[in-house]
Amino acid sequence: MAKIVDTPEFKARQEKFLIKVEPDKVLDFTQLFQNSHPVLLEIGSGKGEFISEYSLLHPEWNFIGFELQQKRVEITLRKLDLEKHHNVKLATFMIDEKIEAIIPPASVEGVFIQHPDPWPKRKHFKRRLLQQKFLEALSRIIRPGGFIQVSTDHDEYARWIWKEFSKRQDFTSKLTDTISEKPLLDDHVVTYYEREQRRLGFEPKHMLFEKKQI
Ligand SMILES: C[S@@+](CC[C@H](N)C(=O)[O-])C[C@H]1O[C@@H](n2cnc3c(N)ncnc32)[C@H](O)[C@@H]1O
Repeated sequence: MAKIVDTPEFKARQEKFLIKVEPDKVLDFTQLFQNSHPVLLEIGSGKGEFISEYSLLHPEWNFIGFELQQKRVEITLRKLDLEKHHNVKLATFMIDEKIEAIIPPASVEGVFIQHPDPWPKRKHFKRRLLQQKFLEALSRIIRPGGFIQVSTDHDEYARWIWKEFSKRQDFTSKLTDTISEKPLLDDHVVTYYEREQRRLGFEPKHMLFEKKQI
């Protein structure tokens, strides 16, 4: 039996939705989407529940999902519809503080990071994505007034993330409670990890930060 990834249908999806990101080449959003709608990034898009569903609810925005595991990008591709999705691109790419080399300054409306790997052992904390050098880079690519939304089911990482943001002058929390146990979006999309972790008894925590107009 032919593998799904070899079918013409799947190849058409690859052509429409996949982008090749080179580590030192800045993306041209207008060329990618053929419009100038605001661009939202999802970092660690996993199996694609959020980007495939939320993008349909918001055709007025463009979405780029970055995911380091190719298998997961392929799973996401299966959730995208050639006829319905016109505002999504996916890249198999590992994001870190060098994101500034691929995304233009002050060009991004918002960044979603949902259930980033918590790296729970102290000796691995340095691998955590959400730390100063990465926030520094995000600060430069997000437009003033833009946002970062982070969700995690890991209590200690949630507190770590909060602390990392609190050290900064350029981001301010949009929430009255620092960390919310309720989803922040009216049209919240439950991701694979949210569902799995909740099944194991770990409730997600959500944070929302605005890039200040300095
Ligand atoms: C715990 S999963 C969460 C996936 C998805 N956001 C969800 O909520 O179901 C973390 C995902 O982020 C991806 N990932 C981890 N670090 C990354 C990085 N630096 N750049 C891109 N993707 C990354 C992993 O491969 C994995 O798919």
